[in-house]
Amino acid sequence: PRVVVLAGGLSHERDVSLRSGRRVAEALRAAGVDVSVHDVDARLLRDLDESRPDVVWPLLHGAGGEDGSLRDVLELAGVPYVGTGPRASRLAWDKPIAKERLLTAGLSTPDWLTLPQELFRDLGAHGVLSIVAERFGLPVVVKPTRGGSALGVTRVTSEDALARAMVDCFAYGGSALIERAVDGIELAVSVIDGPDGPVALPAVEISVDGAYDFDARYNPGRVEYFAPARLTKAQAEQVAEVAVAAHRALDLRHLSRTDLILQADGTAQVLEVNVAPGMTETSLLPQAAVAAGHDLGALYRRVVELVAG
Ligand code: DAL
Ligand code: MG
Repeated sequence: PRVVVLAGGLSHERDVSLRSGRRVAEALRAAGVDVSVHDVDARLLRDLDESRPDVVWPLLHGAGGEDGSLRDVLELAGVPYVGTGPRASRLAWDKPIAKERLLTAGLSTPDWLTLPQELFRDLGAHGVLSIVAERFGLPVVVKPTRGGSALGVTRVTSEDALARAMVDCFAYGGSALIERAVDGIELAVSVIDGPDGPVALPAVEISVDGAYDFDARYNPGRVEYFAPARLTKAQAEQVAEVAVAAHRALDLRHLSRTDLILQADGTAQVLEVNVAPGMTETSLLPQAAVAAGHDLGALYRRVVELVAG
């Protein structure tokens, strides 16, 4: 099949997306697939009309890429594409909505509240602190309700750090998610659809000195990854089931990645589910695939063929 990988775009994760796009294209090419990478801009529809791919693989991260809008355009163009449809993308991309759906599916996710920027202005940091204290207390994690790659995310451990965290968060959007911080083993479980339904890849464990922030994610060295994670067989099965359940609960298609914390009491707290997981050299899904013994090119080719039908 002829494949067009869509990357870039204009989100905060543009560079990450270009790296994901390049890596996926290289792997597919090595597996004998005819593939080109297009940096997405307003010429997209004309581009697709001219290049006439059999399958499009949208690898845009962040706004535009994961919020469903690009997938709306692909639906409009009538071209088969890898990944989740527009409506499910939109719901998964919105963290509070996704968390509600995870709870409905019987999964656990850390307790949270959402706060629009206007309300923060009215309440001030003191007002927000008293709400947080009443609901769950510190530490909390402040994050944009819609975003990726940990941009605008701060773990707040002291009262005087909250205001700054909120301001940083609002740089990425007008709404904040304030989440109870949970401790445990930090894991990412990728899921890939196969002929018999979604299958979890081995969990990858993230062991980081400090925060698993943007810099730690994309510059080798600051994070120690364990792929597969250092889990008992029962724990590995548990988190695999959780990731597959999250994939199903959010109507995700072809591939996804569920980020979670396995607490000491055995609860798997789902932080979020990613519609367009990173595919860069330091990203988690490719590490999981390699840990499972897959050749990346062959695996990605299988995904493309699943879509091409
Ligand atoms: N948002 C980045 C690309 C990730 O989840 O891997
Ligand atoms: Mg994410």
